[in-house]
Amino acid sequence: MANNKTGFSSSFGVVMAAAGSAVGLGNIWRFPYICGQYGGAASLIVYLLFVFLIGMVLLMTEFVIGRRSGYAPEKAFPALAPKRPSWKLVGLFGMFTCFLILAIYLVISGWTLGYFWESMTGTLASIADDGFADHFASFAASTWKPVLFLVVFLVFTLLIILGGVQKGIEQVSKLLMPILLVLVIALCVRSLTLPGASKGLDYLFHPNFALLTWKGILAILGQALFSLSVGMGAMIVYGSYIPRDSNILKSATWITVCDVAIAVLAGVAIFPAVFAAGQDPAGGPGLVYQVLPVVFNSMGTVGTVFAVLFFLLLSLAALTSAISLLETLTAWLADKGMKRNLAAVLVSVAVAVLAIFVAYSFSGGPLSYITLGGMNIFDWVDKLTGSYLPPIGALFTVIFLGWVMKKEDIHDELSNHGVLEISWFRVFYYFLVRFVAPAALLVALLADLLT
Ligand code: TRP
Repeated sequence: MANNKTGFSSSFGVVMAAAGSAVGLGNIWRFPYICGQYGGAASLIVYLLFVFLIGMVLLMTEFVIGRRSGYAPEKAFPALAPKRPSWKLVGLFGMFTCFLILAIYLVISGWTLGYFWESMTGTLASIADDGFADHFASFAASTWKPVLFLVVFLVFTLLIILGGVQKGIEQVSKLLMPILLVLVIALCVRSLTLPGASKGLDYLFHPNFALLTWKGILAILGQALFSLSVGMGAMIVYGSYIPRDSNILKSATWITVCDVAIAVLAGVAIFPAVFAAGQDPAGGPGLVYQVLPVVFNSMGTVGTVFAVLFFLLLSLAALTSAISLLETLTAWLADKGMKRNLAAVLVSVAVAVLAIFVAYSFSGGPLSYITLGGMNIFDWVDKLTGSYLPPIGALFTVIFLGWVMKKEDIHDELSNHGVLEISWFRVFYYFLVRFVAPAALLVALLADLLT
């Protein structure tokens, strides 16, 4: 099929780029506080189930759709089902989701970059323990700081996209992902050797099922999908860059393992330290910006080093995900005939405008007075992108694979045209794709509507 684009150069490149997409703020910023809110290990167990049974199935589904068609989502669906052109709406829905995610992502990445800067300049180290909540509030509500940092972050992202799929995205991911792993392990080691660390591990690994509500289950499902970057077409785009001879099952397994490992390691790096410093583990979205700095300050001078490393870790994790988001939107417009670089710049400008709105609407900001149902724009975008839109996109994507695409085509794609022995195909297709994944997604969405 139509595939004369440059893709990734090897399976290793595929795994690094896609793991780069998957591992992001979701793993380090969102996962620990969701885990904290919904019962520690109780949510971890549900999370693992969702990630492997639904998330990874979706990842393989998107890879098949992407590589088979060679297109970004809007064209990919109709290319594989020429008699059902309206499936392109699922692709467009995904682009909408990606656009919203990129906007809120830039805001949080901007905060992170700002905190990285302040950890280097010593600003964070000079704040008293009880001053971090105020510091974060005034940082996020400032009219220029969040905007400045989000624009800087976006420019980095754009430059990498302009570098191209192989020389930009793939190279940067191959460099950053190993660095990320080393950073997170170093933070774990420090955290685990703090006095009282075991309480944090207990919190993370000891299940409290009383806190696991239906709302929680939907949030965890949303998180499992969000974390693997599935349900919005991003992995269809990366799928279209997978070399013909790469093993999709193997790549998807590695990507999922990396994603889960980094999320759990982030929890191990964060909770023991939070307990050791006597802070509240259910700190919500502010955990990383209000609670962790107290933890770092309690460590003395090494704390400064760890603060720098931590915010660097978070910025780099965010960068490889932002790259994937911007690439998805760029590839979509490029598929429609626009020049690639022009598309990248246009998307960047448009998303910067939205991101500034979102930043200003965060609690305490100049636009935070605009609310709907008690939530401001920031909270809405966070809710939509974190809990609602990915499961809807995922539901239709997996229905497409299971009930619209030809079974023979899927088998052909997953087996690399008959080269690979894929004895697991029947389980994947007749069990997971056709029934388990759609049913679970549907139940979770309905349960949320009804409760
Ligand atoms: N997976 C990313 C994270 O965990 C966030 C994300 C969701 C994403 N959807 C995406 C990244 C699409 C790239 C593309 O932080």
